Amino acid sequence: MNISVIGTGYVGLVVGACLAETGNTVKCADIDQAKIDGLRNNVLPIYEPGLEPLVERNQKEERLIFTTDLRDAIESAEVVFIAVGTPPGEDGSADLKYVLQVATLIGRHMMREMVIVTKSTVPVGSAAKVGAAVAKEAKFPFHLCSNPEFLKEGDAVEDFMRPDRVVLGVASDFARRVMTEIYSPFVRTGKPVLIMDISSAEMTKYAANGMLATRISFMNEIANLCDKMGANVDFVRRGIGSDSRIGQSFLFPGPGYGGSCFPKDVKALVKMASECGVPLDVLTAVESANDRQKTVLVSKLRAALGDLKGKRVALWGLAFKAGTDDMREAPALSIVSALLGEGVSICAHDPAAMEHARVLLGNRIDFAETNYEALTGADALVVVTDWMEYRHPDFERVKRTLKQPVIVDGRNLYDVEKMRELGVRYHSIGRPSA
Ligand SMILES: NC(=O)c1ccc[n+]([C@@H]2O[C@H](COP(=O)([O-])OP(=O)(O)OC[C@H]3O[C@@H](n4cnc5c(N)ncnc54)[C@H](O)[C@@H]3O)[C@@H](O)[C@H]2O)c1
Repeated sequence: MNISVIGTGYVGLVVGACLAETGNTVKCADIDQAKIDGLRNNVLPIYEPGLEPLVERNQKEERLIFTTDLRDAIESAEVVFIAVGTPPGEDGSADLKYVLQVATLIGRHMMREMVIVTKSTVPVGSAAKVGAAVAKEAKFPFHLCSNPEFLKEGDAVEDFMRPDRVVLGVASDFARRVMTEIYSPFVRTGKPVLIMDISSAEMTKYAANGMLATRISFMNEIANLCDKMGANVDFVRRGIGSDSRIGQSFLFPGPGYGGSCFPKDVKALVKMASECGVPLDVLTAVESANDRQKTVLVSKLRAALGDLKGKRVALWGLAFKAGTDDMREAPALSIVSALLGEGVSICAHDPAAMEHARVLLGNRIDFAETNYEALTGADALVVVTDWMEYRHPDFERVKRTLKQPVIVDGRNLYDVEKMRELGVRYHSIGRPSA
């Protein structure tokens, strides 16, 4: 099938590469010339495990084409995916500006009856706006589909290739048939393709992110309570996760959720609901709990070191989670700005996100080539992101290199007992200190 994907960011690039991998001819179009130039040379703008070989192979075999010529991409397509950004507007609602710009172009340049798929996360009711923008220009019939994306950065290729489910919001048999065909290679093991109306599909994406953000904030609050009441959140997590009604995933406390999706989607959902007079009290609380959680590591550091002015701190991890270089809404940014505000100097390391962090933070902090180098002259280590390489470091070396053996662990990576034996002053989230 001839497919075009408009917007070649985290989502568009993964979708385009994976659809090419199953034999479709895919044009990935973007207005960012530098990004497209890089991709033509197999230089990926993002860090995403497993994506580079897919891009390279499918480009070589001419099934994957990168272009800034949106008109050509639309003209040749039987199906167009819209995968541009939907950043939060000033009031928290999702800004549909880019989606609607693309919809207008699709209407103007389409050359045949086609399916127009919204992959971007958009508020309920957006399909009607997309449809109206297309219809203003279109000379051919078209079929809308809302196909929200549930991939996780860091596991994006695997998630797209082997989805838990595919959600298709459609209003015509034509769209249902075409979209089911496109996804059939990805659901051969029997994972469901859930066909529904368009509004429900749009809502499903927000509800999923709202639920996941809720679990995170809930566990963060329980962990903070464990801290105060002398319980250990590791036991509590296992104790509740073993209940099949609850399940084990998304129960790890941390320094707050970040990234390009949860913060903006929770905001947009709350805004959407308030516009139709439905209060979402739970999600409003989830958001404020998350804002508060981003301050927890700094408070723990203050408790461990006393006055922070003039201290130096090593940060391990800048990306909002392991496996990605994405710094959007990363808790590390709040931590850095709070520490700088208290007169702390910082040396940070991240295996993937330092380039992005340099753009955002400039020379306000130092960057180290290795995680151990970041420790030199530091009064404490703060672990912010749960990268694999931070999980089992050479603790003797850590202790030797730090000025004083203090670790504040925002991801509960280390064994409390072991830290005690090593003589490390160790503080994690919701567990006893050493
Ligand atoms: N990142 C994720 O993990 C994730 C997961 C699921 C859903 N989503 C949703 O998918 C959408 C895209 O997210 P992303 O993270 O890929 O964004 P992104 O910012 O990484 O990429 C968006 C791309 O669209 C391009 N673009 C903007 N306007 C354009 C236009 N008029 N024509 C062509 N290209 C244009 C930009 O240059 C950029 O390359 C958002 O709605 C997001 O909420 C993201």
